[in-house]
Amino acid sequence: MGNINDIELQTASTPTYGRNLFREEVPTDKMPDIEHDPQAVYRFIRDELQLDGNPTLNMASFVTTVMDEEANQLIRDNLGKNYIDGEVYNRTLEIEQRCVRMLLDLFNAPHNMKTAQELADDKHIESGWGTVAIGSSEALMLCALSHKEQWKKKRKAQGKSFDKPNIVIGSDVHITWVKYAQYFDVDIKWIPISEENNFVISANQVREVVDENTTCVVAVMGTSYTGQNDPVEAINDVLVDIKNDSQKGWDVPLHVDGASGGFIEPFRDDNQVHRLNWDFKLEQVKTINVSGHKFGLVYPGVGWALWKNFHEIPDKLFITTNVLGFDESTYSLNFSRGSAMVLAQYYNFLRLGKRGYGSVVQNLMSLAQDLSNGLGSLRLTVTEHDKNAHGDAAKRVVFKDKPIFSVINNADYFPASVVRLNLRYDGQDKPLTNDDIENYLYSVHDISDKLKQSNWVVPAFTMPLEKTPPIKDKNDNVIKPANHDVPAIAVMRMVVKEGISRDMVSILIQNYADAVIKLEEQVRGIQNADKTYKASISFEEEVACSATDLVEVACLKLKHIQKNPAKTSRVALGAK
Ligand SMILES: Cc1ncc(COP(=O)(O)O)c(C=O)c1O
Repeated sequence: MGNINDIELQTASTPTYGRNLFREEVPTDKMPDIEHDPQAVYRFIRDELQLDGNPTLNMASFVTTVMDEEANQLIRDNLGKNYIDGEVYNRTLEIEQRCVRMLLDLFNAPHNMKTAQELADDKHIESGWGTVAIGSSEALMLCALSHKEQWKKKRKAQGKSFDKPNIVIGSDVHITWVKYAQYFDVDIKWIPISEENNFVISANQVREVVDENTTCVVAVMGTSYTGQNDPVEAINDVLVDIKNDSQKGWDVPLHVDGASGGFIEPFRDDNQVHRLNWDFKLEQVKTINVSGHKFGLVYPGVGWALWKNFHEIPDKLFITTNVLGFDESTYSLNFSRGSAMVLAQYYNFLRLGKRGYGSVVQNLMSLAQDLSNGLGSLRLTVTEHDKNAHGDAAKRVVFKDKPIFSVINNADYFPASVVRLNLRYDGQDKPLTNDDIENYLYSVHDISDKLKQSNWVVPAFTMPLEKTPPIKDKNDNVIKPANHDVPAIAVMRMVVKEGISRDMVSILIQNYADAVIKLEEQVRGIQNADKTYKASISFEEEVACSATDLVEVACLKLKHIQKNPAKTSRVALGAK
């Protein structure tokens, strides 16, 4: 037998795991000198990816992880098509335009999207417009940039300064908005969110900060932190007031960041909670971004930027090139991009229709409500046993039936559950303050770590309350100081997506309960070597149980929730 390290000795029948790739140093910095067997390369990479988290159990992400097999086939069939090559792949381009038209219609744009020819023939014809993007990040930048350039154009025409454009955003917007402001040299006027205001911005706050340099105000449908909705209609009304104010008269566009909520609100069950006014029906809503790859139910790589009126995009933003052998004019940050996800979006529109989206969204909302109800009704009892004492003297109840979590979002509007830890040393059933977070035995971050042992990825983070920087006027004078004087509020957020079943929701609740039991027992035990601790969980109706019979109780509880419509059961259970 020759040396197994001799490359020449490898033959077609050398087993995959006997091949060079598995013997050599892992190629990380330099491209290998020689080629490798495709089967071995596939296994090599696939095996390493086993260490990634499981996308279905990743409750942190809003992004779709599962599609129909037919959609997968369509995607595979079209992986090699470059979307930008519109003349060659003109059916793909047509399908993109169909998706845009369907979205404009869904979001109540007053005008259909006209063809390029119709727009060229009549420069003043009203037309909605839209384009595909890699995701909401690119989409919202395109929308915001068009507002900035439009503002500049107007200011120039009025002979006014145009060197200090700003955007008005809440302190909880997605980080992409900060990117946009920094990349495109736009000031940010922050609006702090607060607990009193249910972690969204208010129309009055918008009124206070808008000025003549505001290129657009941003309202979010489905914020990244809690999934709540900013009050878009009330903000619109304030902007209409400002426009009609004889002193101010600023026509400030409202952009709706509907990255997640854009595909939720049109499909909610409006028998439960009335439908919100948030889209192009509102006078000042001029642009909307939405992620196809979130609740548009397509895999990562597709977002949509939509305009109520095409003519509000300054011409200079459309760039024309003939490099692909034909003239094409585009407004995008990318050039080449895949076609497959555009086609997958169209697949979903045809496959699901409005009713299909409604059934998925309403199911997800009901699961999120069950999750919130289940977590909100967990109660904790902890007893202490003194190793050196006997009989009754050895046992002390540290606390009994304490609510563990408060639910801080309203899952009637968005399929997510957001909770904060309720446990305090002072025995009150109030939410934690900053001091409690620093002093309590463990935090939501520790619970999140424990949940990872059951493969769940549940993010824990502090709400962006304290970070609000000072608000300055155009001469750099501070008109509102930085808002540092607020307690930190740490939360855990679970986005409920396709792939999560009712059974998995009850298991997650059970895993939460197990995590809390373990943390209470372990951390207290470490702190007090002469004592042992026993923690147990009950649900709101005082059904005491240990970690082992928890599954049964969790299931019973959830069955109870299922039998009752979400609203009634919440009242019956008394959960928050
Ligand atoms: C409200 C909001 N806006 C924008 C984005 C960025 O979207 P994308 O990841 O599609 O680029 C997100 C992402 O989660 C978001 O939640």
